Amino acid sequence: MSKLQVLDHPLIQHKLSLIRDEETGSKEFRALVEEVSMLMAYEVTRDFPLQETEVKTPVATAKCKVIAGRKVGLVPILRAGLGMVDGMLRLIPAAKVGHVGLYRDPETLMPVEYYCKLPPDIAERDLIVIDPMLATGGSAAAAITFLKDRGAQNIKLMCLIAAPEGIQAVQNAHADVDIFVAAVDECLNDHGYIVPGLGDAGDRLFGTK
Ligand code: PRP
Ligand code: URA
Repeated sequence: MSKLQVLDHPLIQHKLSLIRDEETGSKEFRALVEEVSMLMAYEVTRDFPLQETEVKTPVATAKCKVIAGRKVGLVPILRAGLGMVDGMLRLIPAAKVGHVGLYRDPETLMPVEYYCKLPPDIAERDLIVIDPMLATGGSAAAAITFLKDRGAQNIKLMCLIAAPEGIQAVQNAHADVDIFVAAVDECLNDHGYIVPGLGDAGDRLFGTK
């Protein structure tokens, strides 16, 4: 069974509360999503292995540690996942970014794919799928299936807010994928929105409604 990790660092929780607030406008919303994504990236990469190296300081040679040749790929689910990319790239600047375009059909709530562009070597990369919202889990599960069909082997999922239903759906479909979230909310409403959630992440990020 995949691990679920709720990242409860005070800075993440404080900023998430501001993100949820309906009074927070798009400019501030975007900045906060970027900041929280950067803080979450710190935890999501915690298991990256280190290797020994030597560094000549101005004083002496130091035995140091560097990340052991990890190749990382970020895969935002369009469109709302885009809001999390820059924050993560601030901590993992060498990561390549692939894009998977999915939207939820408002009637069926099923994910519909409309775009895909991935780095050619995804099979060798540690992939982090990013999307602010894990609601029914349909979009994330479909994106992960999509990546696996193209050879991906090592995938994590990082979301700001998850519903229990979405976590269950991803864990059922992808027991090998660890999930990192800033909050697990109560439930979904009749329209498949997370309660209390933050509303429509894409609309709030990009000022559409
Ligand atoms: C939102 C969100 C997720 C999806 C979550 O995207 O960003 O991708 O819904 O819902 P699910 O877990 O029930 O699949 P949306 O379909 O609204 O598209 P957008 O990002 O283009 O706004
Ligand atoms: N997508 C969103 O943007 N918000 C939700 O609450 C559910 C799906």
